[in-house]
Amino acid sequence: MQKDIHHKKFTSIVILTGAGISAESGIKTFRDEDGLWENHRVEDIASPEGFQRNPKMVYNFYNERRKQLLSNEVKPNRGHMALAQLENDFKGQTTLITQNVDDLHERAGSKSVLHMHGELLKMRCQFTNQVFLTKKSFDEKTACLCCHKPGALRPHIVWFGEVPFYMDDIQRVLEKCDLFLSIGTSGQVYPAAMFMQVARQQGALTIEINKDPTANSPLFDKTFHGKAGDILPDFISNFFA
Ligand code: APR
Repeated sequence: MQKDIHHKKFTSIVILTGAGISAESGIKTFRDEDGLWENHRVEDIASPEGFQRNPKMVYNFYNERRKQLLSNEVKPNRGHMALAQLENDFKGQTTLITQNVDDLHERAGSKSVLHMHGELLKMRCQFTNQVFLTKKSFDEKTACLCCHKPGALRPHIVWFGEVPFYMDDIQRVLEKCDLFLSIGTSGQVYPAAMFMQVARQQGALTIEINKDPTANSPLFDKTFHGKAGDILPDFISNFFA
């Protein structure tokens, strides 16, 4: 394990996570074998047009994923716990940007989580943009909590063609971080895929931790290939050794 990555060398850490960090919790990734996008066309399930075309199918897709997330089988894994410990023990600033819509980082104890692609446990009124917590299934028949119109509520998820959340905050922290960790993401979806370049351009040390090599792997200062749940606990204990 790398001895030269030590907490005393850094003041501001940005972490980007993707579906790979939740894989060991039993949540499917998108582009791995048997991934979520194997059984669905992205344009049907994760786009405003798909939602307009067939709302029932889209409500159902997210209701099923929400039920799985809330089932007893799904809980934070060692990778989530290691990142929560990093944030807790690191004296500088830590920002955790996640492309994931599950709440496993929060359940592991992470505090500064920016869900740039939205959250499975929230729903949003399409007329007022009010956001509501939900652990229940909802669909086109569910009366909205603010305007009481059935069909007003949609998943609080960023679909393809929509603008991710927190982009101003993300730009700000990327421009001043001195350590950037990319964990469990294939780096195929923008704008998340270019975050490492922003960090790298202003001099941050960039590290990728991912099961498989990605298109961005050659651009990172260091890459660790393997399961996040195996790598992160050692990585974090060496970081503070
Ligand atoms: N540990 C570390 N990495 C893993 C693990 C694991 N246990 N299991 C899988 N991976 C890696 C895979 O090698 C892959 O590179 O996680 C990555 C998952 O990539 P994707 O399935 O493309 O997921 P992600 O990068 O999060 O997708 C980004 O695309 O479809 C949209 O909105 C969706 O947020 C998602 C975005």
